[in-house]
Amino acid sequence: MNSFEFFSPTKVIFGKGVEQRVGKEIKAWGGTRVLVHFGGGSVKRSGLLDRVEASLKEAGLYYVLLGGAQPNPHLALVHEGIQLCRKEKIDFILAVGGGSAMDSAKGIALGVPYDGEVWDFYDRKANPVTALPHCNIPTLAASGSETSDSSVITNEDGWLKKGYSTPFNRPKFTLMNPELLYTLPPYQTACGIVDIMMHTLDRYFSYGGVNEMTDSIAEALLRNVIHYGPICMEQPENFEARSEIMWAGSLSHNHLTGLGKPGDWSPHQLEHELGGKFDVAHGAGLAAIWGAWAYHVYKADVSRFVRYAQNVWGIQQGDATPEETAVKGIEATRNFFHSLGMPITVAEMLGRRMTDEEIEDLTIKATWYDRRTLGNLMVLDKDEIRKVYQESNVEKM
Ligand code: NZQ
Ligand code: ZN
Repeated sequence: MNSFEFFSPTKVIFGKGVEQRVGKEIKAWGGTRVLVHFGGGSVKRSGLLDRVEASLKEAGLYYVLLGGAQPNPHLALVHEGIQLCRKEKIDFILAVGGGSAMDSAKGIALGVPYDGEVWDFYDRKANPVTALPHCNIPTLAASGSETSDSSVITNEDGWLKKGYSTPFNRPKFTLMNPELLYTLPPYQTACGIVDIMMHTLDRYFSYGGVNEMTDSIAEALLRNVIHYGPICMEQPENFEARSEIMWAGSLSHNHLTGLGKPGDWSPHQLEHELGGKFDVAHGAGLAAIWGAWAYHVYKADVSRFVRYAQNVWGIQQGDATPEETAVKGIEATRNFFHSLGMPITVAEMLGRRMTDEEIEDLTIKATWYDRRTLGNLMVLDKDEIRKVYQESNVEKM
């Protein structure tokens, strides 16, 4: 087993009705003045915000509301939140919603005590030394942001979408009620299933050998999501299925499924540029780019892809060559994404092919203007990144 560090300090409170404990929990963590941050309105329509406000009032907490976090959350709202927190002397932030609301809340939490521009953190020009404490009530199982150390923000100046990981991004606690997922449109449920799988796949397919315990957990998680995901699509109010997917979403991105080696993360980084440029849903972008990436790199570690095909999809090698078995695993994944209604090429996602200029723009941004390469299973430099975008730029693969 390889060496690793594991630190996932977020307290998880899971089950029906747990959102009603939010006031008491914040108070127990020492919060007195709360910013409640949410998205475009689903939490109002579902009645969740009313229950949250009632709980905060019952606990005697002062609070202010800030809605408007949109998918691929924008830096401008993070700035607005920082100003609001300073003006209102906020000491605790509560995000209610999907990954976008949670990530925006994390950006605000980082920015409030920082004298400079909060984008400096995302741009790797500064490191935080503190942040406001924050917690969340997730309404979408996907990003894993409810327990992760990451926040992903889009800077409207250049449409750069960048993630930033720091221990300060870890929420103090999360209140996870699978019933809150019942109102999700099928498309968002499907995007979430893809994202959850990709948080494990981007760790599983990386350079660094085998950690049997970690790999077995990863494979079990993937099998579980492949089983319960379609049930969520067909029966949106199936509590067991929503529970399994919701918990998988957190475990998939709290590092448990990748301990002992660095993740590869190329598909995620390639997708972030698609999200920043075309404002597509993160899960859809991942489904669209993964196949092209997998075909581009699988020969770098065929045995890994064979193991995946066998242990996750139950594909027997039989008379097939390792390469053929590896490809069957890739195809099984793409077919599964398609069965959820997800696109499996970028051209399919956009309904048109990208222009050469668009591919060049994505490529240069993915390298952070020649400041980085992507991945480690196969290191992707600028030319390789361009090729993957080009290979995804077909209606069908
Ligand atoms: O904005 P509202 O009105 O709430 O509607 C949202 C939004 O339109 C809606 N929604 C959420 N919960 C709902 C609901 N609609 C009905 N019922 C509910 N229960 O769903 C839409 C999408 O929401 P969003 O928060 O954008 O989705 P998701 O949770 O997938 O988050 C996506 C963002 O997370 C980032 C992605 O890049 C993307 O920006 N990620 C964050 C990560 C992290 N912090 O660790 C890791 C991920 O890899 C990912 O990059
Ligand atoms: Zn993701």
